Amino acid sequence: MRHRAEQQSVPVYLVGGPVRDVLLDRPIGDLDFVIEGDAPALARDLAAEVGGVAVVHHAFRTATVSVGDDRVDIVTARSESYPRPGALPKITPGTIADDLARRDLSINAMALPLGGDRQRLLDPNGGARDLSAGVVRTLHDRSFVDDPTRVFRAARYEQRLGFRIDDETACHLERAVACGHVKVLSPDRVRHEIERVLNEAQPALALGRLAGLGVLAEISESWSGVDGLFRLYSEHCKGNGRPLGSVITPMMYLAALVYPLTPGRMESLVSRLNMPNSWSKVSRDTLAVRDLKAELSDPALPNSQTVRLLTGISEDALLAVARVTSSAAVARRIRSFLGELKSITPALDGDDLLELGAPSGPQLGRILDELFDAKLDGGVNTIEDEHRFVREALVRIGDEPGG
Ligand code: CTP
Repeated sequence: MRHRAEQQSVPVYLVGGPVRDVLLDRPIGDLDFVIEGDAPALARDLAAEVGGVAVVHHAFRTATVSVGDDRVDIVTARSESYPRPGALPKITPGTIADDLARRDLSINAMALPLGGDRQRLLDPNGGARDLSAGVVRTLHDRSFVDDPTRVFRAARYEQRLGFRIDDETACHLERAVACGHVKVLSPDRVRHEIERVLNEAQPALALGRLAGLGVLAEISESWSGVDGLFRLYSEHCKGNGRPLGSVITPMMYLAALVYPLTPGRMESLVSRLNMPNSWSKVSRDTLAVRDLKAELSDPALPNSQTVRLLTGISEDALLAVARVTSSAAVARRIRSFLGELKSITPALDGDDLLELGAPSGPQLGRILDELFDAKLDGGVNTIEDEHRFVREALVRIGDEPGG
């Protein structure tokens, strides 16, 4: 990258997240570069040289070069102006100083020049000072109005890094939220931000903060309580806040978030976030299981009924409800389904039944269903038990009128 940029005499800088993470001594993710030159052209040359693929976004003069699983983002240094709050910015090519000034937070607005003898940190906005002080700070008063996605970003970095949003920044953030700027964001942009929160190592922290700042309530009216989320999370925590035990997936966090909603509010949220099928299924399944509380907590419910009620429900929804529900009986029932009942099937199948003399058609299906129930509810354990059960069922059918 550096070699290629030097050949073309374009200044190139490592910027944003990787610089922040190097200074914090944290593992770095994707590399982001800014060049004071034509990023798409450099990306195409680089991709040709390393045998990778360059994907160019002309509107923003940015490009991504991928080689296998590795990705590098290259951006043309630019300044931005926002035609209206929450709209995508209009961009003008500029210098690295312009490019750092357009960014969200001081800790994300530092650059490291590559090449030559210019190994000096560019930090015009006090990012390194804020890193040392553990402070999340925007660069100017209109930052959250121009780009309300930064509301999510501020909470995310604060909670990820164990920082604190600076008081003045918090004031601007709360004002932007109160003025309805989060409401104007498109469904896809809000979902993308929620997705990034759900993919954090500890999503409950950032979600709790966003709820406290009133941001979640801007997305869905009754989306203010995150008690379920903390119930989900606390089962995995002990004292030091580190998750223990099995993994909580991002979709389990989504399930815990929708758990308190009415079906109507949940459907509004599905539209508000333009949820893909994987999200909407988890959301709908979560409320479906929640609303089976009376049935699932009934001690007399046979296993076969449990299986009938819960088969086809997404596992993320089941696991989340088992942790979030206030009913120990519901939690036990779901755990028994996932841990045991779900994988019980008779050893005999339709072909075996035909061989044993069962008639083909609906009666065969009925015997199979009865065999399945008997296996789940007890009395039929071994293969011999299954044979006996089928023989008895055939005699019963033979005795029925028209059998
Ligand atoms: N950026 C911004 N405003 C946004 C989104 C991004 O100013 N709404 C800038 C920030 O400087 C950020 C950089 O673009 O550092 C890259 O964005 P992104 O990849 O989202 O963030 P990273 O800092 O790389 O963070 P992460 O560790 O979360 O991937």
